[in-house]
Amino acid sequence: MGNHPHTRATLGSKLSAVLVTAGSSVGLGNIWRFPYVAGDNGGGAFLVLYILCVLLLGLPLMIAEFSVGRATRLNAVGAFRSLDRRWSFLGYNGVLAAFLILGFYFVVSGWTAEYLVGSLSGALARCTSSAEYAEMFETFIHNPWRPVLYTTLFVLATHFVIAKGVRNGIERSAKLLMPVLFVILVVLAVHSLTMPGGGAGLRFFFRPDFSKVTPSTILVALGQAFFSLSIGIGIMVTYASYFGRETNLRHTALNVTLIDTLVAILSGVVIFPAVFSAGIEPASGPSLVFITLPSIFRDMPLSMVWSSIFFLLLVIAALTSTISLHEVVTAYLHEEWHLNRRAATWATTGATAVLGALASLSLGVLRDWTVCGLNLFDSLDFLTANIMLPAGGFFTCLFVGWRLDRAVLRREITNDGTLRFRIFGAFLFLLRYVLPVILLAIFLDNLGLF
Ligand code: PHE
Repeated sequence: MGNHPHTRATLGSKLSAVLVTAGSSVGLGNIWRFPYVAGDNGGGAFLVLYILCVLLLGLPLMIAEFSVGRATRLNAVGAFRSLDRRWSFLGYNGVLAAFLILGFYFVVSGWTAEYLVGSLSGALARCTSSAEYAEMFETFIHNPWRPVLYTTLFVLATHFVIAKGVRNGIERSAKLLMPVLFVILVVLAVHSLTMPGGGAGLRFFFRPDFSKVTPSTILVALGQAFFSLSIGIGIMVTYASYFGRETNLRHTALNVTLIDTLVAILSGVVIFPAVFSAGIEPASGPSLVFITLPSIFRDMPLSMVWSSIFFLLLVIAALTSTISLHEVVTAYLHEEWHLNRRAATWATTGATAVLGALASLSLGVLRDWTVCGLNLFDSLDFLTANIMLPAGGFFTCLFVGWRLDRAVLRREITNDGTLRFRIFGAFLFLLRYVLPVILLAIFLDNLGLF
């Protein structure tokens, strides 16, 4: 059902496969979330755990998702359904999670756009103390229309790319934006390293403090790794459905994982030396990027330049991620509901714009609309990151480890037998036993069961 292999796009090259997928993985999770989570959880010790999670758990799962996508060349729902109807729920979980993540991710992306505009116009440099920056941020996010406007602008920017299609939209934007992102990050990191007193920031970020590591730190590291790699949500299935037959799934997954980790580490290198050189407490949580950093930028020479390129970096990182989330929903509507691609793109755009606007308003005028005590913005975040993504990852391991025909898995990983994969047995063992047990642990931990 819904299978249009003859009309399906294929990415132009192996490099495009890496850039497009890295575009999805590298996002606000790396630049905004990773540094403060690492800072709160023991710096270098967290980094070691994080890297272990990424390599031992994230990487195999990414390869597994790639295999499902490229074997079927279908959207997330169609892919699982065509392999075994009873597993279609896994595709629905992904499409629904992508839609719900867009609801709050568009809002935060909108904030980054507002701060970029504020940096360029000089409005951001007008506050004089960090208390004023905090007040400015609070006033902004509670305003009834400005954040909604920026959310909508971000939705439209994403729409514009998706409307151009896989080759001309997604692939071209990734080829342009990912190198720009990387250059900005390196420039910012070098700048940060030359700041007086910045060495203390690096020591804080890299020196392992094992006293802060508890069993739940491992779970925090794993949750962060999955969110950051965009795993467990059908994105890797959808994107791999556009990979060519010559794409090496293992190399692509390894490159994407390395890029994603490097960007997360470099973001810490950008942020912590700046924070320490300004003499500020590092563990300032989610407000680090929107309150602490603007007040630090303000005191730098050429502050407008640094602040503008930093927020441009965030806008780019967010955009390549919202593109991937939008594509999961669009590809599903196009192939499963038989809408033409244009209609599918507009339907996704319209629905996510409404959800995004409501999520944005739920921080201000609609803050009394709560589900289990959480406003809409927080419930979307909680439901997806803490329940739907770990569940998606867990069931994907079970599906690929136990249900997917081994011959299909081997064929995808070895490109029809042309590549060698000596540790296939170990790979299968990880998927069948190790990953499901660990994922179940995160899941129960997230629900507060231990
Ligand atoms: N990986 C993206 C980030 O780090 C977020 C994301 C999660 C994107 C899940 C798609 C799916 O910001």
